Amino acid sequence: MPVLSETLRDKIKSYIPRYPSKQAVTLPALHLVQEELRCVPLEAMREIAELLDLHPAQVQDTMSFYGYFRDPDHKLGKHRVWICRSLSCMLRGGEELLRSLCDKTGLKPGETTRDGRVTLEFAECLGACEGAPCMLVDEECHMHVTPAQAMLKLAELE
Ligand code: FES
Repeated sequence: MPVLSETLRDKIKSYIPRYPSKQAVTLPALHLVQEELRCVPLEAMREIAELLDLHPAQVQDTMSFYGYFRDPDHKLGKHRVWICRSLSCMLRGGEELLRSLCDKTGLKPGETTRDGRVTLEFAECLGACEGAPCMLVDEECHMHVTPAQAMLKLAELE
């Protein structure tokens, strides 16, 4: 039984004409898989490799190069929350923000709540330094975030 659904396979295949080579689709394929499965299992890497005419090791190399992708032992929660700890954010309370969220949720950076709702992580510059300190919730960047606002955001996530 394949790990990748037919829909997911079709999505990956639909990227092929948009890229100069099948190998170039590796990264978007990994994103698609992680988005759906909340991690990238070994079998998924094999299946991606098969779809893209690659050796599984090539897919694994790409996956392991980026800290962004998770293996099944470190599966992501439904929502991924990043707190920026790069210079501008650090100078404007980013570290305190992260510490406060860790204290209140009982998580360490990289961990996921027991209910699988939220994974908390630190990020390097989110590209919104003018709004430091910043927090990225899934795809949405929040600026000038206070610890209280951050906790409120987490509470609002379903
Ligand atoms: S340093 Fe945090 S967004 Fe740039």
